[in-house]
Amino acid sequence: MSLRQKLRDFFNRREAAITGGGLKAIEKQVALGKLPARERIKFLLDPDTFHEYDLFVEHRCHDFGMDNKQLAADGVVTGTGKISGHPVCIFAQDFTVAGGSLGLMHARKITKIMDHAMKLGIPLIGINDSGGARIQEGVNSLAGYGEIFFRNTLASGVIPQISVILGPCAGGAVYSPALTDFVFVVDKISKMFITGPEVIKTVLGEEISMEELGGARVQTEISGNAHFYAESEQECFEQIKKLVTFIPWNNRKKADPFQARKPKPGLDIEGIIPPEPMKPYDVRNIIRAVCDDSDFFEVQKYWAANIVIGFARLAGETVGIIANQPLVLAGVLDVDSSDKAARFIRFCDAFNIPLVTFVDLPGYLPGVDQEHAGVIRHGAKVLYAYSEATVPKITVILRKAYGGGYIAMCSRHLGADFVFAWPTAEIAVMGPEGAANIIFKAEIASSPNPDAMRRAKVEEYTEKFANPYIAAANGHIDAVITPRETRGCLIHAIEISAEKHESRPTKKHGIPPF
Ligand code: HXC
Repeated sequence: MSLRQKLRDFFNRREAAITGGGLKAIEKQVALGKLPARERIKFLLDPDTFHEYDLFVEHRCHDFGMDNKQLAADGVVTGTGKISGHPVCIFAQDFTVAGGSLGLMHARKITKIMDHAMKLGIPLIGINDSGGARIQEGVNSLAGYGEIFFRNTLASGVIPQISVILGPCAGGAVYSPALTDFVFVVDKISKMFITGPEVIKTVLGEEISMEELGGARVQTEISGNAHFYAESEQECFEQIKKLVTFIPWNNRKKADPFQARKPKPGLDIEGIIPPEPMKPYDVRNIIRAVCDDSDFFEVQKYWAANIVIGFARLAGETVGIIANQPLVLAGVLDVDSSDKAARFIRFCDAFNIPLVTFVDLPGYLPGVDQEHAGVIRHGAKVLYAYSEATVPKITVILRKAYGGGYIAMCSRHLGADFVFAWPTAEIAVMGPEGAANIIFKAEIASSPNPDAMRRAKVEEYTEKFANPYIAAANGHIDAVITPRETRGCLIHAIEISAEKHESRPTKKHGIPPF
């Protein structure tokens, strides 16, 4: 063959592989509001940065009529590229090729790009759109999943791992995203579940649609399996691009610093907390009032909303924010909010992102449901995650910090480097109402006017204990600061903690209360 012929042959082969499952299958994909795999990569990555590998990989299955079946690129596109200038490894399952099903070679392509990401120390992004284990390949498909899960686990805490669910992700396949750091879903497109509607109907006799079972809303609002929800694939890609700017390439680096920017004018930080202690407010306004450009990138916004987590910048440096949300359940810690906070704290700690905690909570949520759901075990995760974390830890007590909640929310006792309290802080074993009812029980009962006596005792208790000064007198907090001084104190604390080094006892690994 002449060079010209060889080139023509190559172009033909490449064209055939890139066309995926053919025009008809692509039309079906597009009709469902879904982009083809390579289009997704194109829109997500910086222009002209994608380099594809293993385009000519072929399956090795000879059963069930697979002998002569060509599956373009074996149903998954893999390669490297850049997002906002940051290098990434990426794979995207191609549903137009055998439903994006995962066979032996498909899995090998994924594990190869995962190994690359680990060696190169750069984030891994996986776009999932698949009918699951390729049925014709039997146990080899299952082996493939196992190899992926193993690598997800090894990569955990070494490189950031991002999963994007843009189609079905069913059966055991969901466990790869579940092992990764952030899961993105899109309305009407993402479907995640262990057992599908058919199985549920057969086993339990219950009818449920895929959407109701494991659609994007379910996974972001009810189960908490997904971290980011978007209305469209394009919106989802914009969210991923933004996330990548907040996190480092790997656990040896820090996130890239940005130009420092003042918070947007108009948010008066002093006017956010209402004077009445029982009145709620949106803690996100406090976060916006202190962070650069008032830009708070919230994670798991729609699940366990009694705690708020997310990324922001202070004088250009990425920080991870954890804040009780008085708007929802008075900001209590419960089973779900503990899980949400603990996992985020561990992500930030693994990737050198300082933690800033805003505290305003009455404690852990009381109730039989919570006790039976294991609030002891789940709540302990917060204590574990904060105690284990060695990144700079800065805490601001805004208002209530009662009982276990005070300790759990990154108190000095769990290793906070700097603890600030506003003059509105109330740091005590429990709220004044409960405390007065217990310690002045006899006086209240024997009083001719128990209600007036109770009010007087609540006031006495509030006056004496519900303030930051006893904690300050004991050195449990470092400074009482005004709301307006908060940003400056946080920035200073982050700046002087730049070289913070703290070690923990040598061990194989701890045993967190999973
Ligand atoms: C082989 C598959 C496949 C699979 C889909 N296809 N899933 N081929 N193995 N798992 C093929 C179809 O045969 C079809 O091929 C093409 O992909 C498109 O599929 P459709 O069914 O036409 O698409 P749609 O109507 O959109 O339905 C999508 C679907 C459905 C809901 C995902 O295909 C489906 O239910 N698939 C099976 C899901 C499943 O049970 N997977 C195994 C799970 S067990 P043609 O040639 O007709 O275009 C599992 C274990 C993992 O994953 C364990 C890990 C620990």
